Amino acid sequence: MKDEILKLLPEIKKIKDKDLKEKVILTWEEGIKLGGWKLDDLERIPFTLLLPDNRINLIHHTRAVTSTALKIAEELIEFYSPQIKIDLDVILAGGILHDVGKLLEYKKEKGKFIKSERGKYLRHPFSGANLAYTIGIPAEVIHTIAAHSKEGDYGKRTIEGIIINHSDFINFEILGGKT
Ligand SMILES: [Fe+2]
Repeated sequence: MKDEILKLLPEIKKIKDKDLKEKVILTWEEGIKLGGWKLDDLERIPFTLLLPDNRINLIHHTRAVTSTALKIAEELIEFYSPQIKIDLDVILAGGILHDVGKLLEYKKEKGKFIKSERGKYLRHPFSGANLAYTIGIPAEVIHTIAAHSKEGDYGKRTIEGIIINHSDFINFEILGGKT
């Protein structure tokens, strides 16, 4: 399964910390298992249920958000270093994992993608953070998962958290998503 995940999400390879890289793969693996998904499903799961006509899948969205976040972070380092510090491994891991909770929030029924039972109680920032916690993902990365969506507006985001949040919303709003 590890090789397939790396093929689907090649940005994982850019994570420098070996242990973090392994745990990011493991988190996706566990999410796929717990959500009862087949590998074939992954590029069919919509990235959101809020845009019924949208054809962007969860893998494509995850890659786009990660790549957007990485480029933003690199630019900000260029302009604001050493005044601010940005951990690119946290950006990469956070981007790749920010929506991993959707593997638990959604389910497929009669060919349709809908909310799962647990998804009705726990949106993906909660299920994703919880899943990452059980794998031993570091807290600074779990923070970006937990705080990437509107739920995170009520707390203080780290710099990496701010970048992931905005990258996600850029990739949501340009496709018609409303906040
Ligand atoms: Fe997202």
